[in-house]
Amino acid sequence: MEIDKIIQIAKRRGFIFPSSEIYGGLSGFFDYGNVGVLLKRKIENSWREFFVKKEEKIFEIESSLIMHEKVWEASGHLKGFIDPITQCKKCSSFYRADNLIEESLGKFVEGLSPEELTKIIKENNLKCPRCKGELSEVKIFNLMLSTNVGPASGNTAYLRPETAQGVFVNFKNLLTSTRASLPFGVAQIGKSYRNEISPRQWLIRLREFTQMEIEYFFNPNKIEIPDESLLETKIRILTREAQKEKNPKEIEIKAGEAVKKGILPNKIMAYFLAKEFLWYQSLGIPKEALRFRHMLPEETPHYSKGNFDLEIKFDFGWKEVVGNAYRSDHDLSSHMKHSGENFEVVDEGKKIVPHVIEPSFGIERTIYAVLLYCFREGKDRGWSWFEFPSKIAPFVAGIFPLVNKDGLPEKAREIYLELKKDFDVFYDDSGSIGKRYARSDEIGTPYNITIDYQTLKDQTVTLRDRNSTKQIRVELKNLKELLQKLLNKEVEFEKAGKLVKA
Ligand code: GAP
Repeated sequence: MEIDKIIQIAKRRGFIFPSSEIYGGLSGFFDYGNVGVLLKRKIENSWREFFVKKEEKIFEIESSLIMHEKVWEASGHLKGFIDPITQCKKCSSFYRADNLIEESLGKFVEGLSPEELTKIIKENNLKCPRCKGELSEVKIFNLMLSTNVGPASGNTAYLRPETAQGVFVNFKNLLTSTRASLPFGVAQIGKSYRNEISPRQWLIRLREFTQMEIEYFFNPNKIEIPDESLLETKIRILTREAQKEKNPKEIEIKAGEAVKKGILPNKIMAYFLAKEFLWYQSLGIPKEALRFRHMLPEETPHYSKGNFDLEIKFDFGWKEVVGNAYRSDHDLSSHMKHSGENFEVVDEGKKIVPHVIEPSFGIERTIYAVLLYCFREGKDRGWSWFEFPSKIAPFVAGIFPLVNKDGLPEKAREIYLELKKDFDVFYDDSGSIGKRYARSDEIGTPYNITIDYQTLKDQTVTLRDRNSTKQIRVELKNLKELLQKLLNKEVEFEKAGKLVKA
């Protein structure tokens, strides 16, 4: 399977390592290596550019990972953030009962009670997938990870299962500090923790993962968006009606049209869905592999005025990567009730509790999709490689001396140190030049710079293009400027220098 190859490369080349591996690993946790951390950071930065910096009124914050017990009481997580669990009586493995049933019977069971799930398991004689042992009655398991704060026992606090609550509890502080009027948004990038029953599918279901969330606050009686032209963007939606079909098909529709037809609740939701659709394509995911699924009534919380999951088609099927929820005034009202704070604002001369639309992105699922869709078998060149868009490629260039003698390494290091001031570049002088190209392609580096004997004579280097493997000769004095132009797609590779014959 392609994904197995990707997972191997990811480990070997420093993208992602299993956490605590030398002690047998810790399920649901991963570490980013020297290459993976750059990929992750660049995805975060691209998101920040497009969803925060481009916007006039979206502000970024960073709240704490561990928060007061009362926060989670008010948010409903302590009571309601639960999954149904069943255990094998023979080998003691735990399973999420609803997943197990859905996978074994292809039956959608979201929202059913533990008793109903137990009945389905018994009636269908479902057994432990690992050892075929008998399964226990279904119980409820809370996914919150707790810790004790300070030396005295009894001071329970919780690791956040989403970044969102850090925004809601700071609503009043943010009103004062930003001086923003409605509509405005607050963004946050950071780790979240869920004590998942059975972490699986590599980066898909983790216990520690990174979210990029926006809480967009607005007056429901006055819907405004920053850029109407985005409503012309065509997006793909899997409607509730389509999900009733045997072979459900997505519709392709302009985001604004979907509001007019009553498929989307308002223009703000349409605006964010359009942006997400464009952004994921800019990461190398084809539009046919993207869709917004209108969540079914039984999956949608009672306070929501419409949830639309951005799903990506993975090797194992479609999976949510961004949750888009119209949470109405549920969160602010609930924190008002529990804390006694007043979160009302005056808008259009009236006091209101703002409504919220929340796009909530998962980075690890995004990375999985990027690795999957940028992966190239590379049979023609003899090694596999990643065709990352330049803006997220971990390194933009590798710098190689052709041989390790005659002053070439010294010259190559000089060029490397100069480029390093402005770009993410790496230096490699080990093995044949072919092996170095292969290693560089394997981490998706768009360009390679080779320093050879001619460099010492005429101050030129060869520049190799990852996608075509073609090489051009360019002048050293123009290298930085040229590299930037190539990365910005302002110049075509073959026109940027003298083509070198292979
Ligand atoms: N504040 C809303 C919220 O957290 P969610 O749908 O539970 O919504 C949003 O999560 C996104 O976070 C998901 O679409 C997914 O990309 C990511 N995510 C959630 N749970 C995850 C897990 N256990 N492992 C990896 N990513 C996860």
